[in-house]
Amino acid sequence: MYSEKVIDHFSNPHNVGELEGANAVGEVGNARCGDIMRMYLKIEDDVIKDASFKTFGCCAAIASSSVTTDLIKGMTVDEALKFKNATVVDALGGLPPAKVHCSVLAEEAIKQAIGNYKKGQETAQ
Ligand code: FES
Repeated sequence: MYSEKVIDHFSNPHNVGELEGANAVGEVGNARCGDIMRMYLKIEDDVIKDASFKTFGCCAAIASSSVTTDLIKGMTVDEALKFKNATVVDALGGLPPAKVHCSVLAEEAIKQAIGNYKKGQETAQ
């Protein structure tokens, strides 16, 4: 059912846990399955220098979080705002149709983290 990449990211997830010095956090959930994903980003000069996650969820949600934190590092804030769940699905070698929503959580968590970062910048000015 799952690709080797999904199983690999699920078994050995990258960038797990809170990120020290994170200045952007996004948390989203899916009401249907009850899974929750939290992404931590460290942004400097509008570039994502580091990323990590804490996800309470299914195998596909953990794998999506793990690969997303790998992919997002080095992106600018504006690039990250265009980040799509299809990129996550591709990087994982595909997801079963019933599990595509798990990759959508990753896209939403990143967008929410960046939104919070931008709001923080506005209030700091
Ligand atoms: Fe809901 Fe995976 S089943 S995020």
